[in-house]
Amino acid sequence: MNEQVPLLELAGARAAYGPIQVLHGVDLKVHPGSVVALLGPNGGGKSTTMKVCAGLLPLTGGELRLAGRRVNGMTAQDAARLGVCSIPEGRGVFPNLTVRENLWAATGTGARLADLEEAAYSRFPILGERRHQLAGSLSGGQQQMLALSRALGTDPAILLLDELSMGLAPMIVTQMYDTVAQLVAEGLSVLVAEQFARVVLPIADTAALMLHGRVVASGRPGDIEDQLSSSYLGG
Ligand SMILES: Nc1ncnc2c1ncn2[C@@H]1O[C@H](COP(=O)(O)OP(=O)(O)OP(=O)(O)O)[C@@H](O)[C@H]1O
Ligand SMILES: [Mg+2]
Repeated sequence: MNEQVPLLELAGARAAYGPIQVLHGVDLKVHPGSVVALLGPNGGGKSTTMKVCAGLLPLTGGELRLAGRRVNGMTAQDAARLGVCSIPEGRGVFPNLTVRENLWAATGTGARLADLEEAAYSRFPILGERRHQLAGSLSGGQQQMLALSRALGTDPAILLLDELSMGLAPMIVTQMYDTVAQLVAEGLSVLVAEQFARVVLPIADTAALMLHGRVVASGRPGDIEDQLSSSYLGG
């Protein structure tokens, strides 16, 4: 049992799009310095859960807590200020801005562009070489590196990653998760949603299986292997 106060916690969380209830009481904990993989098939509510955690969608019931404090109703700006940063499904880079301009657009929280550039280019040298190229002209993997660099610019305590692997070649996915593992070793906590467990389980401390708007099983990946049956393990 982990008795630490979770960095991020959902307790009985409910959320809806208009009249359509999508989260039906989600329980989820992310402890400091850990990686939680939120898994499950299409439409289970993973992205909705991420949106709730990022302050992009209000709860209609239950609680969202950061470091033990109830933060229901926080905005996305509040979330960023409190150290929660998210990369949405589809990466969220501006295709018509250059790499450098994309980093510049991430400076809203007070980070200096020069610092952001230095951090981004030392972590991903290819971004430095392409700093004047439009983000839309980068490969999928490079766009994901840019998205990650933008997110890290706010110096988050917890990073929310939605389908990091989507559309990327397997080798690039492995590289991205190596980078994530390195960030975790440096103290970051991560909640990552993936439809396919295989790509994320190697770095996950906890796996949570989401079906029909609820977390139906969670535990150490090895302990809930049965529930993560082959249909959810996927490619
Ligand atoms: N903007 C929206 N308006 C209305 N319904 C939505 C909206 N976004 C998602 N939904 C519905 O909410 C449910 C959960 O969707 P969600 O995107 O959270 O699932 P997911 O687990 O992320 O799926 P995927 O693996 O496809 O990314 C689905 O039934 C979906 O159709
Ligand atoms: Mg999704």
